[in-house]
Amino acid sequence: MTKKLFIPGPVPVHPDILAAMATPMIGHRMKEYAELHGRVTAGLKKLLFTEDRVFLATSSAFGVMEGAIRNLVGTRCANFCNGAFSDKWHDVTLRCGKQADAFRFDWGRPVTPEAVDKALATGMYDSMTMIHNETSTGVMSPLTEIAEVMRKYPEVMFIVDTVSSMSALKIPVTELGIDSCIFGVQKAFALPPGLTVFTASEKALKRAAGIEGRGYYFDYLEFASNDDKNNTPSTPCISLVYAMDRQLERMSAEGLENRWSRHRELADYVRGWLASRGFELFPESGSASLTLTCARNTRNIDLAELKKQLGNSGFAFDDGYGKIKGKTFRIAHMGDMTRSDLDELFAAMVAIMPDLA
Ligand SMILES: Cc1ncc(COP(=O)(O)O)c(C=O)c1O
Repeated sequence: MTKKLFIPGPVPVHPDILAAMATPMIGHRMKEYAELHGRVTAGLKKLLFTEDRVFLATSSAFGVMEGAIRNLVGTRCANFCNGAFSDKWHDVTLRCGKQADAFRFDWGRPVTPEAVDKALATGMYDSMTMIHNETSTGVMSPLTEIAEVMRKYPEVMFIVDTVSSMSALKIPVTELGIDSCIFGVQKAFALPPGLTVFTASEKALKRAAGIEGRGYYFDYLEFASNDDKNNTPSTPCISLVYAMDRQLERMSAEGLENRWSRHRELADYVRGWLASRGFELFPESGSASLTLTCARNTRNIDLAELKKQLGNSGFAFDDGYGKIKGKTFRIAHMGDMTRSDLDELFAAMVAIMPDLA
């Protein structure tokens, strides 16, 4: 049975996008691809408020997250960790053979500007990683305030994962001084998985030029020289690039301000619905994500059973991630979702558990 996805990625994909993916194939060294690539990267630059390079990688997000480490970490990296994906990024940094330290926050807490300042003030680091929206815990860290701190450390590469937030709110990459901003497309962009977008500032490209062992597949300089020709180093997922082209058109038709307000409204709606039924938010106050809501299982529901029954009714529901599985649950409200989608899920939840009415 096809299930409607309320998990935090992949999320439902609009039929227009699926239709765009059925566009007849072209060769990536043909002028038709260069036109498509140029249009898509120009559209992404507008969305990201940047004139930095924007690259398209055929990979899930972690491919480029690893690539960023290989390209941008010279002496030592500070990995800020407040959930499963940022923990994993630290592990990946070490697996790449880089020197790195993890600065950990309890799950449910955001990365704080104070902690970033304290870590970088030691002068030990030439790079830092953080995840803007920790999808495992539903926590959104204060990127603007952290970016303010980063201005004090211009020699430190500011590497940010916006996998589950980019396009749901304004993230002006250049104004924030982000050197490499990375996001897969199966979450806030509501595309099928397989494409990852990343940016590179001039500073990032300069750093990469001095680093050995960048490898090939995610070499930022290979991406830059191919980007000069509106192309990619190796064969791209062309169908997904068509999908992105269509999605950028759809975003522009919705209007960015409208898209951002829709996400704020959906977040408020889900939080309100859950609060009125006695559920508390898992994230610390003021740090709840705008694209998914992670709630504590304060009513001690059998979440595995609820997930199973929702599955039988045609809904994919998430009963928590990693060490907070069963203790929390997450509802996605990202991508193209609307209030009526959420109402469908809530109605199905009430049908299974009438005391949630
Ligand atoms: C914030 C964040 N970063 C990274 C990833 C990993 O992405 P991928 O599975 O596309 O490599 C995820 C996946 O859920 C995520 O939510």
